[in-house]
Amino acid sequence: MSDELTAKLDRIPDPKTGKGLQAAGRLDGVAVRNGVATIVLKVEPDEAIDRLKADIESAAREVDEVDRVQIITTLQRPAGGGRDKAAPRQASAAAPRPARQIIAVAAGKGGVGKSTVAANLAAALAKAGQRVAVLDADIHGPSIPRLFGLRDIKGLRKTDTGIEPADAHGVRVVSMGFLTKPGQPVVWRGPMIQGAIQQFLNETYWGDPDVLIIDMPPGTGDAQLAIAQTVSIDGAVIACTPQDLALDDARKAIAMFEKTHTPILGLIENMSVFLCPHCGEPSEIFGHGGTRAEAEAIGVPFLGEIPLTIELRERSDTGRPVAFDDGPVADAFARAAMAMLDSAREARKPAPEIVFSS
Ligand SMILES: Nc1ncnc2c1ncn2[C@@H]1O[C@H](COP(=O)(O)OP(=O)(O)OP(=O)(O)O)[C@@H](O)[C@H]1O
Ligand SMILES: [Mg+2]
Repeated sequence: MSDELTAKLDRIPDPKTGKGLQAAGRLDGVAVRNGVATIVLKVEPDEAIDRLKADIESAAREVDEVDRVQIITTLQRPAGGGRDKAAPRQASAAAPRPARQIIAVAAGKGGVGKSTVAANLAAALAKAGQRVAVLDADIHGPSIPRLFGLRDIKGLRKTDTGIEPADAHGVRVVSMGFLTKPGQPVVWRGPMIQGAIQQFLNETYWGDPDVLIIDMPPGTGDAQLAIAQTVSIDGAVIACTPQDLALDDARKAIAMFEKTHTPILGLIENMSVFLCPHCGEPSEIFGHGGTRAEAEAIGVPFLGEIPLTIELRERSDTGRPVAFDDGPVADAFARAAMAMLDSAREARKPAPEIVFSS
């Protein structure tokens, strides 16, 4: 099917070279799955592509199995840019910045509570009066729709102003989960993931929020690279759990951000002490304090501890992050969110000028 589609697309001439799109190297990926044709098209900055997109769409619809066509554009620099291909590209200057501050929430390994922390930091900021947006960059396992009670959203609307984010209690949310069916894993190659993330970042009508929180997928793969290539991130928050005493995984995440010159805003210890739902008594099930010690050892701020609570787990399923409301867990997120903003402010300060005496 993909071959048939590629052949059809190759009959469309590339407006610049006149060669077929495939022969001209304009196609970065072509796939047909479950009736959806996904085509990753390379475009140059400021290139008018409406006509081309329409031609691609009608060619794709000629393939019997195709019910829906999704065209993802990836920004190509014109040839001769002189950049080292292996080095992360900087964000495109042409695209408007999606937010005043962009903060990624990441971890070296899965399941430590990145998404829970990302959603609740966003909620804490919104509660404090900030305009907040969330981008779920976890294309393979998006959990932001569930955390914000947006599981019913099927598809995103695109208007003249751009892709319209969903609204969750005043927070603007975009997730790949809105475009896929639950339980249907997205099987995409690297360029497709990069294209989807670039498109979300560049083409969403974010509405100039104060802070955009990006929930990162686990690991150090294509999504991370795509983000680094598309926008300049103000900083990253690394979530850890206390049992990662060696915190090797957190170090891996830190190393990845350092490669793209992204400041580390701090470490946050999730699933710290267990708060008993009956008596409120804290118990140190996984130990406690390892993250603070690690942050001190590597010289990055420690943003705080989030307790392990049944309420937090339950709220993940009900779709209203705890940090919107009041209570000890909401307070812990509020403190962490403020520490994160303080750290971002520090990170923006220019390095002190060193004056050498003669
Ligand atoms: N502090 C906490 N107290 C209780 N449960 C928690 C807490 N933090 C996270 N959880 C639960 O742990 C599970 C994993 O959390 P979450 O999905 O946020 O992790 P993640 O690091 O984003 O995972 P992935 O790597 O799959 O993206 C979820 O069921 C969540 O509700
Ligand atoms: Mg997650």
